[in-house]
Amino acid sequence: MSSNKLAQIALLLWVITIGVFAWFFVRGNTTAGNDGRTAIVLQPGERDLVLKEMRGLLAATQQILEGVNQGDMQRISKAARAAGMAGAADVNPVLMAKLPIEFKQLGMSVHQEMDDIANAAETGKSSSDILQMASNSLNKCVACHSSWQINATGQ
Ligand code: HEC
Repeated sequence: MSSNKLAQIALLLWVITIGVFAWFFVRGNTTAGNDGRTAIVLQPGERDLVLKEMRGLLAATQQILEGVNQGDMQRISKAARAAGMAGAADVNPVLMAKLPIEFKQLGMSVHQEMDDIANAAETGKSSSDILQMASNSLNKCVACHSSWQINATGQ
């Protein structure tokens, strides 16, 4: 086989590999859920990781509301920052590839908004502004939960 032909085959394989990877990156590892939602299929440990992050978001939301109620801007900024982008950045690439792109975008925008809330609390925005921001973010929690569920393989 000529080296030209080999190069062509190598190029084709490379394109296919990138294509398959891109397909997974966009689509994630999903199947029909049991209640009309789309299920993302993860290893049990990966599911635990995502759910732990979720409980962190719920705890942050509670602290933000309590901070607003007490006029405690420091509490708000601390809680919101902990749920911001910095905490989400270390998610491993294998797990990221299994999450559909829509899910990733929605999830990342919630983390980004947590940072926005922290910034608002640090720069003297009013409690009602912060409540409005938190309420907007909660819409995304609701929207995502109504579309997706997470199944663990082997369950
Ligand atoms: C990008 C999608 C997405 C966003 C945004 C999102 N969640 Fe979730 N969350 C999920 C999925 C999927 C589950 C698993 C649901 C299932 O399997 O039925 C979940 C589960 C949870 C759970 C259950 C955790 C457990 O231990 O079982 C809590 C609590 C939660 N989310 C809170 C929140 C809060 C609060 C927000 C917003 C501040 C939020 N989530 C935003 C997708 C999302």
